[in-house]
Amino acid sequence: MKMRNQCNYFKVLILCILAASTHAQLELGFYTKSCPKAEQIVANFVHEHIRNAPSLAAALIRMHFHDCFVRGCDASVLLNSTNQQAEKNAPPNLTVRGFDFIDRIKSLVEAECPGVVSCADIIALSARDSIAATGGPYWKVPTGRRDGVVSNLLEANQNIPAPFSNFTTLQTLFANQGLDMKDLVLLSGAHTIGISLCTSFSNRLYNFTGKGDQDPSLDSEYAKNLKTFKCKNINDNTTIVELDPGSRNTFDLGYYSQVVKRRGLFESDSALLTNSVTKALVTQFLQGSLENFYAEFAKSIEKMGQIKVKTGSQGVIRKHCALVNN
Ligand code: HEM
Ligand SMILES: *[C@@H]1O[C@H](CO)[C@@H](O)[C@H](O)[C@H]1NC(C)=O
Ligand SMILES: *[C@@H]1O[C@H](CO)[C@@H](O)[C@H](O)[C@H]1NC(C)=O
Ligand SMILES: *[C@@H]1O[C@H](CO)[C@@H](O)[C@H](O)[C@H]1NC(C)=O
Ligand SMILES: *[C@@H]1O[C@H](CO)[C@@H](O)[C@H](O)[C@H]1NC(C)=O
Ligand SMILES: *[C@@H]1O[C@H](CO)[C@@H](O)[C@H](O)[C@H]1NC(C)=O
Repeated sequence: MKMRNQCNYFKVLILCILAASTHAQLELGFYTKSCPKAEQIVANFVHEHIRNAPSLAAALIRMHFHDCFVRGCDASVLLNSTNQQAEKNAPPNLTVRGFDFIDRIKSLVEAECPGVVSCADIIALSARDSIAATGGPYWKVPTGRRDGVVSNLLEANQNIPAPFSNFTTLQTLFANQGLDMKDLVLLSGAHTIGISLCTSFSNRLYNFTGKGDQDPSLDSEYAKNLKTFKCKNINDNTTIVELDPGSRNTFDLGYYSQVVKRRGLFESDSALLTNSVTKALVTQFLQGSLENFYAEFAKSIEKMGQIKVKTGSQGVIRKHCALVNN
């Protein structure tokens, strides 16, 4: 009896130590003492500017996703190439926009408290604030992330799912980040806003298996429309298409309704129907309320925002988000 209690005690102790060392360091209001106005500066800037450029919200949440999936949420996505090609140069990247927006917030925050607030926190906060400003979900962003000093194109290609990823690949890449199938379905739900270049999916319309064929998992009526009015040939690398047509700035259930109609734009969207668990989740979210989707989405993106974060004495606070301090 005594043995068993001791054993339980040690188990709890070990669990506590593990918990503390893995994700206890981010905290809500981390800058309350060191830079009390920091989070408000970000929120004010976002609210002032997103009204005139609502499409930036999509760019910023996607930037947050790409950042977190490569070396953790450490703003490595913002680094310029030096002697090695940076993550930002990985294809398809033409709609990874908003670098300038982040730079402008960073300079306001630096003017208030030099060298205190990380670029990684600015990405996480501005993604949340911009989605909220467009009327979408709101989630908690504990802060205290520190910035990385390495950005590598190869690692971006290895870790960020491609539009042609199948279900197995998606599941693996998400699992590598500690995210499960429910997170995959919820976070993919961000494709309810934003745009894509034709090049990210035109193989589905024109040359799916190299025989000049179409992807049978894409609704043929929709494919015909895209070919007639949007992506007129396989080489079109300039036309943009809304991921959720008609409501590209509205964070609604439109993505799930597209997916069940076999109108998800990417193979990765269609792939959610190829697994019984994710297929059921897509239907469940579509049939549930918007509030339920927002609440569940918030939980998943809070999880995403904690991926392999650098805290305490790890990493640095970069002075300029595109450059390593010298
Ligand atoms: C599940 C795997 C995913 C794949 C394969 C994928 C792929 C893509 C691709 C190919 C584009 C268009 C890029 C272009 O044409 O330049 C895109 C856009 C977008 N993605 Fe994803 N994505 C995934 C997950 C996510 C996640 C987790 C989020 C955020 C939580 C997200 C948010 C967005 C947004 C908002 C856009 C529109 C960007 C804009 O308008 O600038 N995606 N995605
Ligand atoms: C980073 O690269 C971009 C594009 O090449 C360039 O416009 C920008 O000035 C660079 N930033 C810095 C701080 O060097
Ligand atoms: C996007 O990727 C292409 C191909 O890898 C690269 O040539 C281009 O410079 C990248 N764009 C940006 C904005 O970094
Ligand atoms: C999924 O894609 C990966 C990588 O391209 C491939 O190795 C695998 O065979 C594919 N799986 C299925 C079930 O098609
Ligand atoms: C379709 O793909 C095949 C194999 O990759 C290629 O030989 C062919 O030229 C492509 N056709 C078009 C129209 O791009
Ligand atoms: C787009 O396609 C045109 C013609 O095929 C090509 O000259 C150009 O380099 C391409 N642009 C990009 C960004 O890939």
